[in-house]
Amino acid sequence: MSAFDLTPLLDLLPELLAGRPLVVLTGAGVSAESGLPTFRGPGGMWEGNRPEDLASPEAFARDPETVWRFYAWRLEKVRAARPNEGHLALARMERLLPRMTVVTQNVDGLHAAAGSRNILELHGTLLTARCTGCDRGVPAPEGPVPPLPRCAACGALLRPDVVWFGEALSPVTWKAAADAAEACAVFFVVGTSSVVAPASSLALLAARAGAYVFEINPEETPLAPLAAGVFRAGAAEVLPAIAAELVRRIP
Ligand code: OAD
Repeated sequence: MSAFDLTPLLDLLPELLAGRPLVVLTGAGVSAESGLPTFRGPGGMWEGNRPEDLASPEAFARDPETVWRFYAWRLEKVRAARPNEGHLALARMERLLPRMTVVTQNVDGLHAAAGSRNILELHGTLLTARCTGCDRGVPAPEGPVPPLPRCAACGALLRPDVVWFGEALSPVTWKAAADAAEACAVFFVVGTSSVVAPASSLALLAARAGAYVFEINPEETPLAPLAAGVFRAGAAEVLPAIAAELVRRIP
C-alpha cells in the first residue's frame, strides 16, 4: 500500500487542467534524490557548519577563499547531478497545465535541466558568478579554488550569484513569486523545511488568499497546520503520482 493518499487533491486536478493556477515551491529536498545534500538535519550542509561562516557577505569579506571553496565543492556536485523523477514530473505537469509556476529556493538549476520553463529562482543560481566590482554576470568558474576567480573585464573578485543570509532577494523575483502565490488555486510546498524567510511566508500568502496548500515532505514541518493535505513521502515518489493522476484526467 502507498504511504501517501492523494485523495484530498484529486478533485482539484480538473480545475488545474482547466487553467486555474498552480504554484510549486521547492527546497533542497526535491534534489535529495539527485544526490545533492539538504541543509538541515543529519548529513545536511549546515551540520557542523554555521551558515553565517559560509553563506554571508561578512564571511566573504573576511575569508573569500573559504566561501569560494564551499561553493566550488557544491558546484562540482551540481554539475555531476541529474534531475530526478520529481523534477521531471514537475516539468511534465507544466506541459499539461495552462498556468503553473515553480518557485525554488534551490540554486542547482535542476528544474530547468528537467524541462521546467516558468521558474523563479528566489536564492539565485550556482551556475553563474557575479563581479563584485562591475556587477557583470559570467558563467561560474570551472576548476578548483584557489586561485580565487576574478572578473576578466575589471579584475575584481567574482562572487557566487546566490543570495546570502543577510541579503535581500531580487525584488523583481520576489514580487513575481508573491503575486503568483496570492493568485494561485493550489500551492505545493515540496522538500523544504519552511524555516527560511521570506520563502517560508509564500505558503501563508497563498493560504490567506484562498489557495489549497499541500505539503510533500517525508518529515513533519511547521507548515503542516496550514495544509489542506500532507503527503509524507519523497518528492520523486509523490510528484510522478500526481502527474499520472493529471494525465488520467485530461479531458
Ligand atoms: P532544508 O535542508 O532546510 O530542508 C530540506 C527539507 O527536505 C526537509 O524538510 C526534509 O525533510 C525534506 N526532504 C528530504 N528528502 C526529501 C525528499 N526526497 N523529498 C521531499 N522532501 C525531502 O532545505 P531548504 O528548506 O531548501 O538558503 O532550505 C532553505 C534555505 O536554507 C536554502 O535555500 C538555503 C538554506 O540555508 C540559503 O543558502 C540562502
